[in-house]
This record gives sequence, C-alpha cells and structure tokens, in this order.
Amino acid sequence: MSTTRFLTGITTTGTPHLGNFVGSIRPSVAASLTPGVQSFYFLADYHALIKCEDPARIQRSTLEIAASWLAAGLDPERVTFYRQSDIPETTELTWLLTCVTGKGLLNRAHAYKAAQDKNAAAGREPDDGVTAGLFMYPVLMGADILIFNAHKVPVGRDQIQHIEMARDMAASFNHLYGEHFTLPEAAIDEHVATLPGLDGRKMSKSYDNTIPLFSSREQLKKLIGGILTDSRAPGEPKDVEGSALFQIYQAFATPAETEALRKQYAEGIAWGDAKQLLFERIDRDVAPMRERYEDLMAHPEKIEQTLLAGAERARQIATPFVRSLRSAVGLRSLAQASAAPKAAKAAKAALPSFKQYREADGQFYFKFVAADGRLLLQSTGFAAPKDAGQAIARLQQQGESALAALAGQLAPVEGVPPQDVTAALQQLAEAANA
Ligand code: TRP
Repeated sequence: MSTTRFLTGITTTGTPHLGNFVGSIRPSVAASLTPGVQSFYFLADYHALIKCEDPARIQRSTLEIAASWLAAGLDPERVTFYRQSDIPETTELTWLLTCVTGKGLLNRAHAYKAAQDKNAAAGREPDDGVTAGLFMYPVLMGADILIFNAHKVPVGRDQIQHIEMARDMAASFNHLYGEHFTLPEAAIDEHVATLPGLDGRKMSKSYDNTIPLFSSREQLKKLIGGILTDSRAPGEPKDVEGSALFQIYQAFATPAETEALRKQYAEGIAWGDAKQLLFERIDRDVAPMRERYEDLMAHPEKIEQTLLAGAERARQIATPFVRSLRSAVGLRSLAQASAAPKAAKAAKAALPSFKQYREADGQFYFKFVAADGRLLLQSTGFAAPKDAGQAIARLQQQGESALAALAGQLAPVEGVPPQDVTAALQQLAEAANA
C-alpha cells in the first residue's frame, strides 16, 4: 500500500487557544493515527520571524506550541515532529525555488496584496513597512512542503493560495530540471468547526477574544463566564442559533450531549447554568491534557530533545534530497564533471525525449522531440499534470498502438511523417530495455 504524506506547519507567534485546538491540533493528531498516513508536523519559526521581532516571544511560543501538541496526544514516534529552523536545508531550497518563481506570482499573494491595500488606504507608499520576508513568505512555505514531497497539506482556507503557489514552484522546477517534486494539494477538512470567541466573532488572536487551551481551571471558568450571551432571563427559551456558547459546547460534546443542551435551551436554561455546563464539558477533555502540559512546561529540555530527534529524522530525508537538487541545477563538484564526460549521458542525449510543461492557459502539455531537437509530436492541453504524465507513459510503453488510441490528444506536426514518430518511439523503447 502506498502511503500518503501529510505535512503542516504552525507559526510560532502565539499561545494556543481553544479555536486552535478544535480547528487544528485535535484533527491533526487524530489524522496522524490513520493507517497509511505519514505525518510531518513542524513549528514554523522561520515564518514567525516575519511577523514577530520579539525573540523572547518566539522562544516562548515555540515552547508552548510544542508542549500543547504533545500534551494533546501527538506521538513523536509516529509523527515526524520538528522545528523548521532545525532543517537548514529549508532555507537552501528556498533559494533554489526563488530562482524559478515569477515575481509576478508573489505580487498576487493575498497577504502581500492586503499589506499594499492597507498602505493605499492610508495614503502611504505601496510597499511601506513591507519586508522582503513578507513578500517571500510563500516561497519559504513552498520549500517546507516540497522538501518532503508532501502529498497533502492540511490548512485553513486562507492558506489555499500558498499551496497553489507551491504547486506552481514545483512544476516550474520540474519542467526545468526534471521530475524532482510531487505536486502538493491542500487538504481542507469540511467537518472541522470554526470556533466563535468570547464576543461571538471567530476566535482569533487578532480579535483578542480567545480562551487559552491551557489556563488554570479557575481561569478557564472565569473566561467562560465572560462569553457574550443575550439578556434573556432564566426560564425564557433561548436560541441555539447564533449562540457562541452553544457552538463551543457542540465542538466538544457528543451528538447526544449536544441534543440535551439544545433541549435545555428550549426549556429556558439560565445562562449561568449553561456556562457551568460548558465549563465542565471542556474541562473534562482539557484536564488530563493540562496535567501533561504542565509537566512538559516544567521540563523544556525534554521538549528540546524531542524536537531535535524529530529534526534528525527529517534531515535523513532533507539532506540527501537537497544534495540531489543542488546537483540537478548544476551546483556540482567540478572534479566530478571533468572526470567523467559519461558515456551513459552521451547516449541519453542522443535519444528522443518527452518534455512536459504548463502554458499560460493553466493547462498541461507535452511534446515529443527528436534527439536533434526536431519537434515530432505536440499534445493538446490536459487539465492535470498527472493526465499528461499518463499519456506519456502510454506512449513510452505501447508505442505505435498508443498513438492511435491517443489521437484525440495529439496535434499533428506539419512536415513530420508518421513513421518518424513511430521510429522514435521504437528507439526509446529499445533504449529502455537495453
Ligand atoms: N502559513 C501557515 C499558517 O500561517 C504556516 C505554515 C508555514 C505552513 N509553512 C507551512 C502550513 C507549510 C502548511 C505547510 O497557517
């Protein structure tokens, strides 16, 4: 069975809250237990530098987030759990990708455009206060993903564009230097709830309406007491629709528990009692994790060890991979190149070949060119690179018979007799079997 590689990063700028737990930590830890899945979760501390210039906060947040994920059940034996900055190959790959990424692509990034719009609205220069780090954010993220050839990247909707950009970078690199990268896909979980915060808006650090995942019982109780409700008195039926309290409860409760609370709303439960129920329900899940969390926070050296072990495992993949990428782009030992003008290389150069590429229309194409560079075949557009790849594989394996079967996807090239195409396919097949 083939395994699917999942990878996701968590920016280390804040303290995890209930919204992070429900939206990311809990589903990611659960997903890591699925058979056939290989998970890479990491603390995106290089990314944190773009948003945060407070060294103490970066370090503190890295510790808190690592402790939170471990306390929530992440098993570092199953998941490759590491700190981004422990994989220096990531920054090296960032440069290789930078060189194949159009500046125009980065100009279109939502976060960069938002910064520009904000400046425009305030009558400032478009790039005022925008660091090159913010501009390059998507390339660093692309390197995170591509360095492990992740298939699926679980992220929030706001990150989909970044995954698409990573695909573009991978495709450009592959086109120029051969098939090195898997094209990643965003994995959006439709069932995961977005949690409302204390004021009913989405729970988010930027709204200052969060409930930390790990505060003391007393603090948790106090914060829950502050959740916004309406002014209906005890005994008056209450609406579950639009009730932040109800939605938070639902994110922790079983369907049966949720139904019971719905009934109590209709029967006019007092807000104070509903808050007590919510507190108890959350604390039931959080209490055992809180104990582990406090233990971990008291032993940062254990967390450090865990992360270093994770990085070591990750680098067993990243180090040789980046070495091969360096070679692919021509950063090679000079001795090696001059010592061996290889016979195999020369033979390969004399063969016809397929070239895959993407056009401005967003479709994927390939062409088949003779050893001397003459164009033999030209495909029409494919929606996905995989489809183009499959057509190529068929031509390589089945030769002439595939030509007929794929006629609808092949545009004839003027002045090329069909027997030349067949002969070139034949030549390829013979080389492959040699
Ligand atoms: N940009 C992501 C966020 O803000 C964090 C991140 C960094 C990430 N690198 C990544 C997510 C790679 C997935 C894959 O949420």
